[in-house]
Amino acid sequence: MLHLSLATRNLLKLLCTRCCFKTKPTFMELTSTYWNNRYAEGSTGWDLKEVSPPIKAYLDQLENKDLKILIPGGGYSYEAQYCWEQGFKNVYVVDFSQLALENLKQRVPDFPSSQLIQDDFFTYEGQFDVIIEQTFFCALQPELRPAYVSHMYTLLKPEGKIVGLLFNFPLTEKGPPYGGSVAEYQGLFSKHFDIQKMETSYNSVPARADKELFVKMIKK
Ligand SMILES: C[S@@+](CC[C@H](N)C(=O)[O-])C[C@H]1O[C@@H](n2cnc3c(N)ncnc32)[C@H](O)[C@@H]1O
Repeated sequence: MLHLSLATRNLLKLLCTRCCFKTKPTFMELTSTYWNNRYAEGSTGWDLKEVSPPIKAYLDQLENKDLKILIPGGGYSYEAQYCWEQGFKNVYVVDFSQLALENLKQRVPDFPSSQLIQDDFFTYEGQFDVIIEQTFFCALQPELRPAYVSHMYTLLKPEGKIVGLLFNFPLTEKGPPYGGSVAEYQGLFSKHFDIQKMETSYNSVPARADKELFVKMIKK
């Protein structure tokens, strides 16, 4: 049997890790426990504490208040609150974290509990006219992106749409949030969606200025 010193074994481990990163990046596992703990610890750097302005502007020009709207990974979901207060009563939030959903319920007591769903997006079923994307895609391990696209497709009614924001900075192992580019997103979505808009958002909050793309993608 070959006996290696501890230092040699550590060096081999390091080289192996480096080499594996080159071929296949490893992303941390982001479970429901991970997200619930982030809320429990108050470690919610993504929380805007207000409806995201580009999404507000989109909602403000919608006339049909009967639209069935889903906000996956909605978190504290100021977007759901805004929808509800503007008269969109068919608005649903799906999130891993019960704590996040409870926060929304406390802020908006008349928001129906049946529309606050503690579940895994990837197993949740329903049919929606519009799905709002707001820092959910970027919170997923990038390996899940193809599954996100196909599940979004399944959750939308014919000609339903994804509307919202995708980050526009390089994708690395560092995250969440995980980034991406127009080229990557076009490659991911264009088979199943007609990409009507994917451009730098002009009305992002200052901290995200020039870092996010406003998207509107219609189910093919
Ligand atoms: C970065 S936070 C963003 C929350 C919210 N969209 C916002 O902008 O404040 C990501 C959210 O996605 C939720 N999440 C992550 N993976 C999920 C999954 N597979 N199913 C449901 N929710 C998930 C987390 O619990 C968390 O609330």
